[in-house]
Amino acid sequence: MSTTEAFDFGALAAELKPRCQALVALYEQPRSALLPIMHLFQERQGYVSPEAIRFVADLLGLTAAEVEATVSFYTLLFRKPVGKYVLQVCRGLMCELNGAESIMSYFREKLGIGTLETTDDGLFSYEEVECLAACDRATCMQVNLEFVYSLTPQAIDSMIEAMRNGTYPVKPMAQTAKPDRTWKVNQDASIGTGGKSPGTLTSTDPDNAGGVGDPSGAIMLDHFVTESASFVARTRERFVRDARSIAEIVEEERPSTGSGLKGNGSNAGH
Ligand code: FES
Repeated sequence: MSTTEAFDFGALAAELKPRCQALVALYEQPRSALLPIMHLFQERQGYVSPEAIRFVADLLGLTAAEVEATVSFYTLLFRKPVGKYVLQVCRGLMCELNGAESIMSYFREKLGIGTLETTDDGLFSYEEVECLAACDRATCMQVNLEFVYSLTPQAIDSMIEAMRNGTYPVKPMAQTAKPDRTWKVNQDASIGTGGKSPGTLTSTDPDNAGGVGDPSGAIMLDHFVTESASFVARTRERFVRDARSIAEIVEEERPSTGSGLKGNGSNAGH
């Protein structure tokens, strides 16, 4: 489809739902199907859209934040529209020792873009990534998640030319939205200055640990002091759930009294 047409996410979700459910059925825990499902959506939409994140969260009984936290961890999943060829060059130690610095400079110069950027024609997205676990064949990269090894300027020239001519053997990414110049996903700007995510400052949810951006722990401590009821409830709930292990830890910490309690688990569950 043309990238100017509005993408019908509802139709895609309806189509993929049976495959998603089949994936969920393969695992003991539904959340174990998260990554393969995200790949399904990325394969069809070209990236992991916010709609896909919400859909999968509902399907797996997770929050959107939990799904996004997983998706954002992997360089295999793209959270913004990208080019038809995503070029991810390894900048890990072994690749660096084998000349990755000059390979990366060559890519940047050849494409005219930096890391996490896309060319204006929407053909190439470029990223410098951490170790791709193919150190024995450094220098290496992935093209649309397929490995390419032993990079040289000549190999890069032929690769880019074949991609421009449409003859490169790796399938181009689906492109359902026009990529921006950068596909970097910015963090909440307030985090770097010690702020918190919106909505968590006044949260009374005992499972909400206070959001992010609290490196000193001062905001969290304030929660304990001003909202102690929430934390008492939380602690009780965890104690019931984890009673056995907590009781065992308490026993281990206790100085030996010769009472015979240590290590026998007799208090577990109380
Ligand atoms: S350092 Fe490049 S694959 Fe490991």
